[in-house]
Order: sequence, then C-alpha cells, then structure tokens
Amino acid sequence: MKMNFSSFANRIVGQSMFKILAAAQEIERTGKKLIHFEIGDTHLEMPDIVKDAAIKSLKAGRTHYGPSIGEFSLRSAIVNVIKEDYGFTPDISQIAVASGANPLIYYIISILVNPGEEIIITDPAFVTYNAVFNMLRIKGVYVPVGYHDGFRFSPAEIAKRINKKTRCIIINSPQNPTGAVYSERDIRAIYALAKKHGLYIISDEIYSSLIYEGTHFSAGTLDKCRERVIITQGFSKPFAMTGWRVGYAVGPQAIIEKISLLSQTIVSCVPPFLQDACVLALDNRKKLVKGYRIEYKKLRDVACHELAKAKNLSFSKPAGAFYLFIDVSKTGMDGDAFAKLLIEKASVVVCPGSGFGVAGKSYVRICYARNQDELVRGCAAIARIAG
Ligand SMILES: Cc1ncc(COP(=O)(O)O)c(C=O)c1O
Repeated sequence: MKMNFSSFANRIVGQSMFKILAAAQEIERTGKKLIHFEIGDTHLEMPDIVKDAAIKSLKAGRTHYGPSIGEFSLRSAIVNVIKEDYGFTPDISQIAVASGANPLIYYIISILVNPGEEIIITDPAFVTYNAVFNMLRIKGVYVPVGYHDGFRFSPAEIAKRINKKTRCIIINSPQNPTGAVYSERDIRAIYALAKKHGLYIISDEIYSSLIYEGTHFSAGTLDKCRERVIITQGFSKPFAMTGWRVGYAVGPQAIIEKISLLSQTIVSCVPPFLQDACVLALDNRKKLVKGYRIEYKKLRDVACHELAKAKNLSFSKPAGAFYLFIDVSKTGMDGDAFAKLLIEKASVVVCPGSGFGVAGKSYVRICYARNQDELVRGCAAIARIAG
C-alpha cells in the first residue's frame, strides 16, 4: 500500500554516511572485505574508568527516569569544565544534557528559526545541518569554501549574505568534514557581525579537544553564552563514546529551558547511569583526551604522507577533528564516481563530498581514526587509484 506521508515526513533525508555504511555492509555480506573510512567513528576504545563507573551506577539502580534537563551532578561538572577551560562561569540553568549533539542541532534550530528564515553556514558542512534545514523549511545560505582558503568562511563573505531573514550563523570549529579550525580573530569578527545584526550563533564544538595545531577559541566566551551564543558539545568525539549518545548545550537560560522541554517530549531523559559515568569522564578529561589527541595526530600524519604520493589528489593538512577532505578533480572524476571506483577496485569505502554540500562535489572525505595498518593500506590504495 502506498503510504500517505505528511509533508514533514517527505522532507526527511537522514545522513548520507549511514546510507553508505549500510550499502557497504550489504557488499560485505557477499563475502567481500572492505576498509571503512566513511563513518565518523573511531577505532579506539572509550576509557575503562568511564565504563566501570557506568556499570557501577547501573548496578546501583540508576536506571529510572531522571530530569529532562540532565542530572544536577553532570550539569555541575559541565559548569566546572566551562569555568576551567573557557574562563567564565555559566549558571547551571544555562546547561542542558541531551542524547548527543546531533539532536541538539535539531532542537536548537527548531527553537530559534521559523520556516522561510535563513541560517548562514559553510558549504561543505556537517550533514545534519542541511537535513534539519530541509525538515524545518529553513533556508540554508551557504558560503562555499575550498582547501585553498583552509575551508573557512570569512567574516566578509558572511556579511554579504546577512539580510532581514537571517536568524543565525553556524560555526563548527574544528569542522567536519574538513578539519578546519577558526582563529580567535575570525570568531571575534563573526561574533561582532552577529551582535550588530541581532543574530544567534550556534557554535558546534564537538571536536574542540582534537586540535593538533593552534588552540580552540569559542564564541561562547564573548557573551558567556548569555545572549546569543549556544555551544553544542558531546562525549562522542573527545572520549570515543559515540554509541553512548550523550551531549550537552551551554546557552542562554530561556533557550536551555526550551531544549529541556523538547528533550522531555521526544526522549524524556538521558539514562542516569550514563550521565553518572560522564561526570567521571569530565573530571579526568585532560588526561583522557590527551591520549586520543596524540594518537589521532599521528594517524593524520600517516594518512597525509600516504596520500601525498598521488599527484592527482589535492588536500591541506587539517588542524583538527579526524577527517581529510580530499579534492579528486585532477583524476577527471567527481567525488561520487571516485568513491564508487574505490569500492569496486580497492575495496575502500569513503564518503563522497557531495553529501556535505554542492561545493563538496569534487571531494571525498575519509575518517582517519583507524588502526594504523588499515589506514596505510587504505590510503595507499586510494593513492594508487587516483594516480
Ligand atoms: C560537527 C558534528 N556535530 C555534531 C555531531 C554529532 O555528535 P553526537 O554523536 O554527539 O550526536 C557530529 C558527529 O559526527 C559532528 O561531526
């Protein structure tokens, strides 16, 4: 029977990398072994002390409903992180815990922006943004960026695109899919624009602990997240806890209250035993995160070394996150055709850049958070196919 969907349902597109993963797994069921560079997840295990804390809490019966805004203990630990790492002390009412940073993107955009209004963002950008704009009938106003400009949008390009319908600017630093890291100077200039025009800034900082050159600067420090900046963060990338589905937002109290109501409506709460363990992750974050950062930096350099052997691949060494966004146009193919050829001829799965925006068409993205042997084999195969 043909389903009669709502117009909202017809606008749901999902995330391209999960579709690529499903297609790759289908091929694997036929017996073919593939090297997976497509999904933004890591080969590394999460910290044992965090696992143990979750088990302890689970056994202690922390398995019931909890507050939708998040456990007081975890929100207090987040206040402490912001105080120590960002240099300002938010009120606890400025913190909400959610089931990952991904739902927070949906929650925040739906709370702040009406259908027909506009949000300025880079092209390429993390896939959830475009998917959410689509669902909510919001117009994404894109600033195309490439590897020659370090994949960063300039304040001048943003300024050109601001009009009466603009509600928000999204900064994602370090960025997925490109690894770009914004300078303090640029973030201050973007913040000044937002203030001048009365806009919000969503600052997606999920990769902030994975910076290999330079330092992280958050727009949140400029208004203490009290007026227009909402930081989204999570445990997935800093602590290799992608399957846990825990994230958080720091923002103006009124926005946080709405996030909590939306969370209440959709997921009720984040499991309390997971939040108990997240407190431990945050309390030990400096030591834990350093180990991951050192490992990813080494893998980044290994991947760049292998891929640089191909004259037909162009890329810049990314300063953060764990992705390489590679321009394949010199092969005479676009990213989709190159990705298809890679699966067929080299058994390597990558994400075509087109999934991240129109400007990504001639690129492919690889996630280099992989075991080193596999990374070398996969990158060598990519270089061989590219020529
Ligand atoms: C830029 C960016 N923001 C948010 C997320 C979502 O993270 P989470 O696992 O916390 O939902 C991702 C995940 O890949 C990401 O790359």
